[in-house]
Amino acid sequence: MGLKEELYEILEEAKKEVKKIKDKKLFDELRVKFLGKKGELRNILGKLGALGVEEKKEIGQAANEVKDKIQELIDEAAEKIEKQERAARLKKGVPDISVSRTIPPIGYYHPLTVIRDKMIGVFKNMGFSVEEGPELEEEYYNFDALNMPWYHPARDSHDSFYITKGKLMRTHTSPMQARIMQKRKPPLAVVVPGRCFRRDAVDATHSHTFHQMEGLVVDKNITFADLKGTLLTWAKMMFGPQTSIRMRPDYFPFTEPSAELAVTCPICAGKKCSVCKHTGWIEIAGCGLVDPEVFKNIGYDPEQVSGFAFGMGLERIAMVVYGIRDIRYFYENDMRLIEQFVK
Ligand code: PHE
Repeated sequence: MGLKEELYEILEEAKKEVKKIKDKKLFDELRVKFLGKKGELRNILGKLGALGVEEKKEIGQAANEVKDKIQELIDEAAEKIEKQERAARLKKGVPDISVSRTIPPIGYYHPLTVIRDKMIGVFKNMGFSVEEGPELEEEYYNFDALNMPWYHPARDSHDSFYITKGKLMRTHTSPMQARIMQKRKPPLAVVVPGRCFRRDAVDATHSHTFHQMEGLVVDKNITFADLKGTLLTWAKMMFGPQTSIRMRPDYFPFTEPSAELAVTCPICAGKKCSVCKHTGWIEIAGCGLVDPEVFKNIGYDPEQVSGFAFGMGLERIAMVVYGIRDIRYFYENDMRLIEQFVK
């Protein structure tokens, strides 16, 4: 048998052996056997020395072709088995960490979520707990318990979505004041984030659906100074230590006295800019001491306990902090806006 025939014999043998193999570790043994330093091909190349120039060239070329072919056979078969093993692993539910992939688009926190969570963090640090309440609320908690009986004119300023008789979409988070006091005994320090609804015409600063965070503290001897101290601490932690607050008299049926809270504009630090409409101040909350009538409605003795409450507008705060000029952006879920708020 000539060397050339021997070469093709080796190729045929390699084909057969490759077919037999089911375990990918054995391919390395095959590589050694056919292609290695002491392998069968080398054996033949060793015999080339005795040949003439022309023959040497011809056999050498054929040997290279056979070598490449065997290499290819082994690689292909190894890959096939690799694929089968991978499929079997996946079937068993074992994750395949060797698969290369493009990173899927990640989600982003909504700007209102970022603001809400930051506020919750600040209040938790001050010892508040967090509760949530129903969006479909009873008229009693939304109005009556909060010192707004049916004939109270303040009900008009809360244009409401009534669902059935006596039930409406809550117009503020304040009904949770009554629910929490009814359920628990003082001392209380709770914040309530939540969605609220009013029949407002939608424009750049009004939305029929919006978000508030309610705060309620009830204990013995709670004073207006406690309210002021809490809000000032919150404002500094929220907007930075240079922040100050302003409280001006206001009216709410469920607090007495009542105040409107403003913070120095976080954008211009009170120096006056377009965001604060050149006033240096941003109004962000209503607040006051819990009205004794509310305590009475709930069954607390106003001679024994006192407390304060506040209600903050989340959209207003987020608009100022992020310079978002139209409230409607919050609800359109345009990714070009949302993408900017990775927490
Ligand atoms: N609930 C009031 C509003 O929506 C805000 C408020 C809450 C005022 C708590 C005083 C105390 O306008």
